[in-house]
Amino acid sequence: MLIASPTQVNPVSKGTPKTITLHINGAAHTLEVLPYVSLLDALREYLDLTGTKKGCDHGQCGACTVLCDGKRVLSCLTLAVMKDGAEITTIEGVDHPLQQGFIDHDAFQCGYCTPGQICSAIGMMQEGKAKTRLEVQDAMSGNLCRCGANMQIIDAIMEGMGHE
Ligand code: FES
Ligand code: FES
Repeated sequence: MLIASPTQVNPVSKGTPKTITLHINGAAHTLEVLPYVSLLDALREYLDLTGTKKGCDHGQCGACTVLCDGKRVLSCLTLAVMKDGAEITTIEGVDHPLQQGFIDHDAFQCGYCTPGQICSAIGMMQEGKAKTRLEVQDAMSGNLCRCGANMQIIDAIMEGMGHE
């Protein structure tokens, strides 16, 4: 019969902290995180980058969307240790015409979903797949606006994509 000695316990299950470096908005940040810490919590709780919002914390609302190596990801469903060495853009690092577009189109009310909406829209544009309004609506369907500004958000994005 095999009996596991304490030295055979997987170190990850003991929660051994890992040192990682995240390149966020052009600056390198080295931090020590436990393996279960989400990228969202690393941004908000370890680095005080609170522009990225926690809505559901379950991958259902899109409020936590950031760009990782140019691609949009849900930071609540991403472990920080998985992104060691990655280039991350949060809303604090965004300087994009879409932001003015959101203002012009009245595309936010409380603004809680807005950082995720803008990061997601930039990622979607970089993907280059969605072209029509319907396709854009579909591609943005993972970002929910509890204030009901969805139509204005799509208006702002369509304008940002060059469709008036
Ligand atoms: S907080 Fe991540 S999807 Fe809702
Ligand atoms: S503006 Fe309030 S949730 Fe979207």
